[in-house]
Amino acid sequence: MPRIALFAGDGIGPEVIAEAVKALRAVEGRSGETFEFVPLAIGGDALDRFGLPIRQSDIDLAGNADAALLGAVGGPAWDAVEPALRPERGLLQIRHALGLFANLRPVHVLPALVQNSPLRAEIVEHVDLLVVRELTGGIYFGRPSRRWVSARGRSAVDTLRYRDDEIERVVRLAYELARTRRGRLTSVDKSNVLRTSQLWREVVDELREEYADVETEHILVDAMAMHLIQNPGRFDVIVTENMFGDILTDEASVLSGSIGLLPSASLSDKVGMQPGTRYGLYEPIHGSAPDLAGKGRANPAGAILSGAMLLRWSLGMPDLARKIEQAVSNVIASGVRTIDIAERDVAAVSTAEFGDEVVRHVTERGAATRITSPAE
Ligand SMILES: NC(=O)c1ccc[n+]([C@@H]2O[C@H](COP(=O)([O-])OP(=O)(O)OC[C@H]3O[C@@H](n4cnc5c(N)ncnc54)[C@H](O)[C@@H]3O)[C@@H](O)[C@H]2O)c1
Repeated sequence: MPRIALFAGDGIGPEVIAEAVKALRAVEGRSGETFEFVPLAIGGDALDRFGLPIRQSDIDLAGNADAALLGAVGGPAWDAVEPALRPERGLLQIRHALGLFANLRPVHVLPALVQNSPLRAEIVEHVDLLVVRELTGGIYFGRPSRRWVSARGRSAVDTLRYRDDEIERVVRLAYELARTRRGRLTSVDKSNVLRTSQLWREVVDELREEYADVETEHILVDAMAMHLIQNPGRFDVIVTENMFGDILTDEASVLSGSIGLLPSASLSDKVGMQPGTRYGLYEPIHGSAPDLAGKGRANPAGAILSGAMLLRWSLGMPDLARKIEQAVSNVIASGVRTIDIAERDVAAVSTAEFGDEVVRHVTERGAATRITSPAE
């Protein structure tokens, strides 16, 4: 029986995770399996209940499951907490402890939502890209990281460090993914200034011969920030280091029209229950949205689609993943939408109503006829 660890987290996290679980429950019968959900605590929720942003025992339980699904962490209630105990530390801890080295963020603009993008329709209508961000190395983890005061004033230092094997494993994964898509890889760095980026580019160039069937290009991160807005449709798989990926994925998410729509996967090297699958933690890319929490106004599509990614990457059930992805796309195309993407003059539905409609499309035989390609 596939076991799925559930970290509902804070703010709108529990609301959107409830809808993702509903969608997974709606398809589980078709797999011939029953999913076991294991509720665990992270972020402010864990701080309030156990005094830590995540307990080691919950990290272990999540690691022993086949995959984990997470809502979001953080919020104003914990803003004054000391840095080592902040809700976000729970996320960094579990990523590091479970070796979740590659963060995959597909960005695909649904035809029905092309008008919702802040960019012109002709710029976004063909966007179907996948950003692969290195997640456990780089400046967010490098030591020393500290600040101090001297006679000359306040100073601070963070350390950006990468080893070649850390670069190689994420670039290799990105190449493998490019092979299953349109065969193009864009590696993003700042090699005109940073030593770590020079090493990054060197490793990519060493691997590119092995993946000669994939077209490889290098782009500097500052230029990439412009290309993503001017011509995002030209990209297929984009691979980059932790901090550049953090910034570029948020930029890319704007293309889709709402941050509530996009899923993500953080994958490890641990082989999953089926050939070709890996252990992963799946979460919508949005945060805990304190302004929406408890109001039933959050868009659960990103969480539901994260559940679909989980089926594909960790449980080896791509047909069920497609079923959910198609249902989400059909529901949105039919005009049933949460407030963030609602059509003018059409009443928005609640978080739970959107989830119910996805379940209806998933379970109704023959309901899903309109195909829109998943983004990975
Ligand atoms: N991975 C995570 O858990 C994660 C990621 C980002 C931010 N955060 C935390 O979340 C809290 C709020 O951060 P923020 O406001 O910068 O980012 P946010 O993503 O929570 O919200 C940004 C904006 O997007 C809207 N939004 C977010 N999710 C939505 C959804 N599903 N449907 C409709 N609208 C949605 C919000 O209402 C808000 O206007 C902070 O404590 C931050 O640290 C957590």
